[in-house]
Amino acid sequence: MRTPLVIGNWKLNGNKHTVITFINRLCNKLISVIGCDVAIAPPIIYLYIAKHNMTTNSNIMLCAQNVDTNIYGAFTGEISAKMLKDIGVKYIIIGHYERRYYHKESNEDIAKKFALIKNEGLIPVLCIGESQTDKNASKTEAVCATQLDAILNSIGAKAFENSVIAYEPIWAISTGESANPLYVQKIHNFIRNYISVHDESVAKQVIIQYGGSVNANNAAELFNQPDIDGALVGGASLNAEIFYQIIHTAACVRNKKK
Ligand code: 13P
Repeated sequence: MRTPLVIGNWKLNGNKHTVITFINRLCNKLISVIGCDVAIAPPIIYLYIAKHNMTTNSNIMLCAQNVDTNIYGAFTGEISAKMLKDIGVKYIIIGHYERRYYHKESNEDIAKKFALIKNEGLIPVLCIGESQTDKNASKTEAVCATQLDAILNSIGAKAFENSVIAYEPIWAISTGESANPLYVQKIHNFIRNYISVHDESVAKQVIIQYGGSVNANNAAELFNQPDIDGALVGGASLNAEIFYQIIHTAACVRNKKK
């Protein structure tokens, strides 16, 4: 049985004070939660502070929001997977819509990052998803397939072993309107089947998160779907109490299924 994974993607938000307060609050609450893996992705500059404010028995893991396509060298301003590993990062988000859009990242760049992350023994969180226009033109599955093909055709299906896919429809990001849980289930099932054609056992174990306006009110209905293995949470992850409620919901749903 897959363990759900809830990641808080803080994007370009937070400061030293909010990171410390958030970690203290979340560590206290999470002590009794079993049945959900948890990670936070503050801006890179705050990862170290987050780590050093966690209690020794904390099970919160560190996630980076981005990584470079190189490991070292003359690439001013960049950060490598090796460096992230060095400070204790476990997950790295790649292919987020905001990076595809604002930073013009291509599927090829993303495949390169995926391979480097796997090489370091870290876990990529590959974001995929369609625009409103794609959805209206019934191209959702074709768009997701192309984004998955970038990995499948360059490094193969085995790369998805111990990896995470986050299905984030662009039209649901930061809008306050989550996608319908049945719609999400349909796409998650498509994603799993698409990988299954290449490797059934890898497809069965790959974590497929949903992302796009997840909050404490819509989490249960989403997590109750068989192929939704947790969430990549944006805005709602900035508040420790709400983020905890989402984690708690994921754990409860999972423990009921057992
Ligand atoms: P919101 O939860 O704010 O819609 O953001 C989703 C997201 O982009 C997470 O990566």
